Amino acid sequence: MGQPRKLFIRTYGCQMNVYDSERMAESLSGYEQVASPDEADLILLNTCHIREKAAEKVYSELGRLKGLKATNPDLRIGVAGCVAQAEGAEIMRRQPLVDLVVGPQSYHRLPELEARAREGRQAIDTDFPAEDKFEHLRGRRAARGPTAFLTVQEGCDKFCAFCVVPYTRGAEVSRPPERVLAEARDLVERGVREITLLGQNVNAYHGGDWSLALLIRSLAGIDGLERIRYTTSHPNDMSDDLIAAHGEVEKLMPYLHLPVQAGSDRVLKRMNRKHTAESYVRLIERIRAARPDIALSGDFIVGFPEETEADFAETLALVERVGYASAFSFKYSPRPGTPAAERAQVDPAEADDRLQRLQALLTRQQRATQDAMVGREVGVLFERPGRMPGQMAGKSDHLHAVHVTADVAPGMLRRVRITGSAPNSLAGELCAG
Ligand code: 5AD
Ligand code: SF4
Repeated sequence: MGQPRKLFIRTYGCQMNVYDSERMAESLSGYEQVASPDEADLILLNTCHIREKAAEKVYSELGRLKGLKATNPDLRIGVAGCVAQAEGAEIMRRQPLVDLVVGPQSYHRLPELEARAREGRQAIDTDFPAEDKFEHLRGRRAARGPTAFLTVQEGCDKFCAFCVVPYTRGAEVSRPPERVLAEARDLVERGVREITLLGQNVNAYHGGDWSLALLIRSLAGIDGLERIRYTTSHPNDMSDDLIAAHGEVEKLMPYLHLPVQAGSDRVLKRMNRKHTAESYVRLIERIRAARPDIALSGDFIVGFPEETEADFAETLALVERVGYASAFSFKYSPRPGTPAAERAQVDPAEADDRLQRLQALLTRQQRATQDAMVGREVGVLFERPGRMPGQMAGKSDHLHAVHVTADVAPGMLRRVRITGSAPNSLAGELCAG
């Protein structure tokens, strides 16, 4: 064999894209990954379509790559991910330097598409084939760091009125539990200690008659796997057995990302969320009864069409009631083809102002939750050297970034006493033993 070709992947958007990019890199066996697009023979942009800004980034990045193609005639450029799915061949019309377009459900066909693109033939695949793409995406078994993502479910049947996911990722599909367990065992053999199960609607997981709770209980039986997390969840799929698992499964970490999007029932109804603010708050109470120290996180959209100041005040009131350890908040962005894009839009300046007010409140809550950790003892999985010499950094059970000044190897799970809180991280000391 000759020299391996060089692959550069840029990943945008969510954690599922991070996982997909890893699988794509492994499946392209004639390539080694490089850290800069300048050295590459194949550049893949794994894209996100969730908001307009995310989608536009792709075209500005493609514009920047133009010069590279002039200097390296062997360079091929591919667009993967949700923009590829949503726009398909339109991408090549808008930016002719693109050689390959592949949607999220067709990644197992990437090696074949790459070969076509090399030969200068058309390479577009945005089908929704029936086979489990991940079964065909098995590649090299390289050693891994202590944490990994593992996609168990894809797609969404909820059709929130603002969201493109049901169109770009398709209908809900769960992977069979035995494949998930096999992949988890394989990751653990390669050094992984913490697995985050991924899905657009991960708690809707239904592999055969397995629920997510059953899958988690089964994963917890794997020796060497120390921590389990999952994301992202929908309130309506928070089943009794999953809530119970939070109280019973020690390896399931006390952290939950449970987006509510808004606090006004009028807005929630127009978003097609199929729950109310009150039912969400009651759900949180039940989760906290099962696991009192759980750290909650959420997603919020402000300036959804026809949102009034009174509606927005109800979002602030809900945030005050719940108390979030962290949260993501976004200004509504109309997405082509979704129902809400056709409706009367909120004045952008008003939406900006609401976003600022919401973010100020969420930041205060995040700081307060973090500051309250000082003096407590938590588990920390160490991952990498910290920013200062002699430091090691990792994540706490509650997903706070923690650093200690001590000699502790990556992959070690240790008890740490928290001694200080800075805006985005905690300082601590290793406990004895
Ligand atoms: N505009 C703004 N935010 C959106 N999200 C999804 N679609 C949109 C949109 N059109 C947010 C939601 C979701 C998160 C992943 O992105 O809050 O939970
Ligand atoms: Fe989008 Fe999540 Fe709603 Fe599904 S549940 S439509 S992925 S916001």
